[in-house]
Amino acid sequence: MRNIVAGNWKSNKLINEGQELINEIAKGLPSLDSTDVIIAPPTPYLAHYSRNFVATNGIQFAAQQCSANSMGAHTGEFTASMLTSCGIQHVIIGHSERRDRFGENLDVVRAKVNEAIAAGLHVLLCCGESLDVRESGNHFDLISTQLSDAFQQVKVAQMSQITVAYEPVWAIGTGVTASAEQAQEMHRFIRERIEEWYTVKTAESTRILYGGSCKPSNANEIFSQPDVNGGLIGGAALDAKSFLSLIEASETSQKHSQ
Ligand code: PGA
Repeated sequence: MRNIVAGNWKSNKLINEGQELINEIAKGLPSLDSTDVIIAPPTPYLAHYSRNFVATNGIQFAAQQCSANSMGAHTGEFTASMLTSCGIQHVIIGHSERRDRFGENLDVVRAKVNEAIAAGLHVLLCCGESLDVRESGNHFDLISTQLSDAFQQVKVAQMSQITVAYEPVWAIGTGVTASAEQAQEMHRFIRERIEEWYTVKTAESTRILYGGSCKPSNANEIFSQPDVNGGLIGGAALDAKSFLSLIEASETSQKHSQ
């Protein structure tokens, strides 16, 4: 199965700066034998970028979130179907910054997943525990709850539209990365839950990305874990050189696993 290396720009870059960054990435892109490259820029740029960059290189685009509602009187919201109408194929849902700062509880995340699936989007569904939760030993229970709740209405045939991103909150933007063992342990756990809730085949074909201070210096070790299928990258996605070396690390790990 192909890896994913996805860059989440969060609220960074003006439109022209972003365009330059994409150009630089596109210029240095290796042949993508086994990695899908996705970039999630700020939403206002999405339609413009997807029109300008479509099919010129291997880069695909994602939104950083979408509305929990479908079309209607919801001032300021943009729906999942609006994203697909702009040529966007992917959406990140349930990022910890959305959960913690913008009131996205389990119900909201589930509604967003359902909207995105119905619109035909591929969902990068984030889960992750805070340091308190990890220290209290409840991290497996929390991840299980976050995922089982989000999957409530997702049918087995729709699981091909889901990629899970495990992002321990204590590792996001902190410079502290989960160790390769911690990442593998949680990724294995997630795959086992998917097997329990769906099928062996679904579990084997669902991609599980690691996110949280993933950078060129630690990517080789993390990406080479058997249940890690690439990364969701924040800070290191804002620089072409480091993002490209993460893509290289993904390609290398895939070659070694064959
Ligand atoms: P980081 O962010 O790589 O800057 O830690 C990851 C994320 O929030 O997706």
